[in-house]
Amino acid sequence: MSKPAVYVTRNVPEAVAERLHRDYDATVNTADTGLSADDIVAGAEGKDAVIVTPPDKMTAEVIDRLPASIKAIGCFSVGTNHVDLEAAKRRGIVVTNTPGVLTEATADIAFLLILAACRRAHEGASLIRAGAWQGWKPIQLMGVEVSTRRLGILGMGRIGQAVARRAQGFGMPVHYYDQQRLPADKEHGATFHDTPESLLGVSDILSIHVPATPETIGFLNAERIAKLPDNAVVVNTARGDIVEDEALIDALKRGKLFAAGLDVFAGEPNIHSGYYNLDNAFILPHLGSATVETRNAMGFMVLDNLDAVFDGTTPPNRVA
Ligand code: DGY
Repeated sequence: MSKPAVYVTRNVPEAVAERLHRDYDATVNTADTGLSADDIVAGAEGKDAVIVTPPDKMTAEVIDRLPASIKAIGCFSVGTNHVDLEAAKRRGIVVTNTPGVLTEATADIAFLLILAACRRAHEGASLIRAGAWQGWKPIQLMGVEVSTRRLGILGMGRIGQAVARRAQGFGMPVHYYDQQRLPADKEHGATFHDTPESLLGVSDILSIHVPATPETIGFLNAERIAKLPDNAVVVNTARGDIVEDEALIDALKRGKLFAAGLDVFAGEPNIHSGYYNLDNAFILPHLGSATVETRNAMGFMVLDNLDAVFDGTTPPNRVA
């Protein structure tokens, strides 16, 4: 029997590629560059499925142009905001994602950002690399103490809970907002707030863990930043569009906020240029899930789901 034909928009880790090529007739965009709508549609020609990543904009227009042979879109991500799920449903195309396997890696990056932002890691690293460090000084690059700060977690799903667990180890008082209060065993000692605004008021460090939806896009605007305590720190490992860049940059410049730690940005990879020159913005290129273990697990999960589609069973992580 011939293998299903799959178009893959980016290179995947070696172990995943091995299984991909063993089980599928796979064509990979080995140039590993960003693809336009036309590129994706052309790549999908004659294929049974496509594997896509967060930068691939699977809009309704792209989905409507996919060939009739496409049965599934496998997202190499837990986030599916880059795929128009309604358009896929209309076309009867199955969409799957990769929940669960990137929880710990992403929570690690959230904590890295918390620590780096609070302890001025960008300024310290730049100083020493510029050969400008003149030695230890009592008042040099003083940051804010992490362990005494109240951590506010916006969105207490898997990743939010993993961040709360880490925060317990640091002795931080933890607060959270979610649509509903969680059972005690999932709260990890955190205090529930029934509105996001109430959470903002106690968030010396705000860590964002909600998906990008019409309700959350633009959530952290000037008005809500004003509700954070003075000198607060904002950390985002979820999606860039949840934060209004102009408002965040302005608050960082004015000193309303002490610092920000950001792994995700609106318009990636073309991020707001205002971040580049801000010493109090510690910025990373969307590395949340970037460990060998996690990227392998994500890739295998994409393939498990496609296997199910082509075996005629229900994919375990179907989102449309
Ligand atoms: C995801 O899976 O949605 C992440 O953003 C990738 O790191």
